Amino acid sequence: MYRISVTAEDRKGIYEELLPQIVSLIEGENDMIANMANISSALKEAFGFLWVGFYIVRHAAGEDMGELVLGPFQGPVACSRIKYGKGVCGMSWSRAETIIVDDVTLFPGHIACSPYSRSEIVVPLLDAGGNVFAVMDIDSTEKSDFSAVDRYFLEILAGKICRLAK
Ligand code: SME
Repeated sequence: MYRISVTAEDRKGIYEELLPQIVSLIEGENDMIANMANISSALKEAFGFLWVGFYIVRHAAGEDMGELVLGPFQGPVACSRIKYGKGVCGMSWSRAETIIVDDVTLFPGHIACSPYSRSEIVVPLLDAGGNVFAVMDIDSTEKSDFSAVDRYFLEILAGKICRLAK
């Protein structure tokens, strides 16, 4: 796998081309797993990120809080379960907000699934009641690879998944 360095402006252009394609790919499908699988592939193919995927909130019987369980993804194998508030994903879940980590080695409690991960963005997916039901996680081999540009477009994409998942 190789990565072509692109400027924030280039990346904005790629998102602007890619998002309508992803939307047309998923808009006729209301199965969340199928859509998460195709989105993982589309983002990984377009940008060459190390890892793109989803963790879904699952509740065991009698358990209030639940935990994040690995969903569709593209990239190296990853940890299967993440507890509420743990790691970048768990923090995004507990805060219900996007988190960008420029240097994963400086993030206390970062869960290292790959030694090649250097930076990360996690975007929460909210249901109609404002509760997080999943998170989208993207890892890069480059430090400081995610900016407000990624946050902007990935939050739009997260909103589309939420509406289609109903
Ligand atoms: N680094 C994440 C764990 C998931 S992997 O990156 C795929 C975290 O700290 O939550």
